Amino acid sequence: MRISVIGCGYLGAVHAACMAKLGHDVVGIDVDQRKVELLEAGEAPFFEPGLPELLAEVRATGRLRFSTDMAQAATADVHFLCVGTPQVHGEFRADLTYVESAFAALQPHLKPGDVVAGKSTVPVGTAEALAARLDGTGAVLVWNPEFLREGFAVKDTLHPDRLVYGLPTDDDGEPTAVGVAAREVLDEVYATPLADRTPLVVTDYATAQLVKVAANSFLATKISFINAMAELCEATGADVTRLADAIGYDARIGRRFLNAGLGFGGGCLPKDIRAFMARAGELGVSDALSFLREVDSINMRRRVRMVDLAREVCHGSIVGRRVAVLGASFKPDSDDVRDSPALSVAAQMQLQGAHVTVTDPQGIVNARAKWPDLRFADTALEAAEDADVVLLATEWTEYRDLEPHKLGEVVAHRRILDGRNVLDPRVWRAAGWTYRALGRP
Ligand code: UGA
Repeated sequence: MRISVIGCGYLGAVHAACMAKLGHDVVGIDVDQRKVELLEAGEAPFFEPGLPELLAEVRATGRLRFSTDMAQAATADVHFLCVGTPQVHGEFRADLTYVESAFAALQPHLKPGDVVAGKSTVPVGTAEALAARLDGTGAVLVWNPEFLREGFAVKDTLHPDRLVYGLPTDDDGEPTAVGVAAREVLDEVYATPLADRTPLVVTDYATAQLVKVAANSFLATKISFINAMAELCEATGADVTRLADAIGYDARIGRRFLNAGLGFGGGCLPKDIRAFMARAGELGVSDALSFLREVDSINMRRRVRMVDLAREVCHGSIVGRRVAVLGASFKPDSDDVRDSPALSVAAQMQLQGAHVTVTDPQGIVNARAKWPDLRFADTALEAAEDADVVLLATEWTEYRDLEPHKLGEVVAHRRILDGRNVLDPRVWRAAGWTYRALGRP
């Protein structure tokens, strides 16, 4: 298939490379000249495990190129919309500016029979409005949400848990003739994962758009649920990690996404639950999602609680104290610092008078751009030099594996805050550290 991918960020760049890996002929298009130049040079513009190797592999086949020129999309028959939908500053709703501009730029290059596949996370109703604009052009819109996780993006795209197609439907809810034709095109695009028995859900526009935000809302709720339990554990002396293990053995509950700690961040979960609430309000069903407000509040409270915990271990004040923060990215194996709990806590402590030094294996460049006033160090040992307290905020493997005696030699006081509940308290206490965590005695 000849494919264009509009938007080459965390989603689009990976999608473009993976489509080429599946054997398609792909052009990735982005308005950011720098990003396109890097990708054209075979370099990933952000940190994503496996992406540099994949880019090298598929670039060598000649099946993948990148351009800033939307006219290049005219050579393709399937067009994936992969642009971002960030939160509008100071509001809950999603900013659709990029979807709008990408779609408008693509439209003059569409021909009859073309399929436009929306992947961006959008408020329900967006697909219907875009589809109406294709009326009479012979091109058709499908909604094909993406569920990849940063850090596992290549694997998730090549071997997805499921595929969802939202097709245009008639009054009986059945796919229209153009919808059926579009489905056949997508089946060809995804021939390899479909042959691997990837489950496929074929549905209408509204359901397909809702699936994505429903999935992220569920994941956010699961994390906030266990973090709410952590608050109860803190009030009772119980251990949230043992509690999560025990309830997680129930297959109906499951252990995944029950890791209590600093909570969720990133460019997806926080803004998606807020945009979903905003959209529910517009649809007159805000009560249905009022629980997401609580999910959001529980999540944000964890960050405040962590600053309080730092104050507690420093005997009531962090003013003038040296704090080492291990981790800046919103999760390990990513350089993404959007709404990162680690950075948010680091910045709060700095604002409250602590001397904060942040380190991260991949996220320092992005973190510095966002919080230039923070101090940065290249390694955990450098960051921890003379520290009064060390906070593990993002569970990179190298931080989980830190040797307490070695770290203990450089700090001023052996106090560790485990923001992700990944360290063994016995080992750290045995090495003379004061160990504190969220939801653990
Ligand atoms: C999330 C979803 O998991 C993907 O399925 C979805 O496609 C993506 O958003 C998106 O909308 O594009 P991602 O943001 O990459 O993926 O990260 P997650 O792995 O979901 O982690 C989100 C946050 O939750 C991180 O800050 C992580 O540290 C935190 N988390 C995760 C916890 O605090 N506890 C857990 O048990 C799991």
